[in-house]
Amino acid sequence: MIPRAQLLASLTALATIAAGGLAAAQASSPTPTSAQDGAVVYKRCAACHTATGAGIPGAFPPLQSDFRELAASKDGRRYLSLAVMRGLSGPIEVEGKTYRGMMPAQSGLDDGDIASVLNHIGTKIARSGPAFRAFTRAEVAAARKSGASLSAAQVAKLHADAGSQ
Ligand code: HEC
Repeated sequence: MIPRAQLLASLTALATIAAGGLAAAQASSPTPTSAQDGAVVYKRCAACHTATGAGIPGAFPPLQSDFRELAASKDGRRYLSLAVMRGLSGPIEVEGKTYRGMMPAQSGLDDGDIASVLNHIGTKIARSGPAFRAFTRAEVAAARKSGASLSAAQVAKLHADAGSQ
């Protein structure tokens, strides 16, 4: 059995690493307390949305101006986080085209990983649309909590409410 004092010391050390945040994440290889690199996470998205984020018209929507428009509103930001963690089952309209597909929930990504990949898309993939403001881990965590019971179809309904086309 691990002595209680030693356990507490380990927990304190872990909390310190977590508080180190981004600096720690960049300096060391991924640990359970540091977010994955957004570019690395994006590789799995690229399987459908393509490496440039252009998507495949009618099948996989582009991650371009619609993404940046969504990221400019509070409701849109919640929708983007939930689309990744809960999945998405349209119809949704993106850049004038209707998508009636099914995006599976992206498993194995924690709140920090999701913030990282959304920030990668907002800064490196989506090249047009309004100015992009970075997602935080706390913001993604709030979306996860408030949307815990939503189905992929219910998440898709949030698209229309988010004030985007
Ligand atoms: C297996 C294919 C697949 C993968 C992998 C995938 N997506 Fe999707 N994604 C889709 C499909 C299909 C839709 C449209 C769903 C619909 O038609 O309702 C979509 C829609 C989206 C949307 C909504 C776009 C908008 O303008 O409303 C976002 C955001 C998104 N995906 C982000 C991601 C991210 C981030 C990843 C990687 C972590 C990812 N996707 C991985 C298939 C995929």
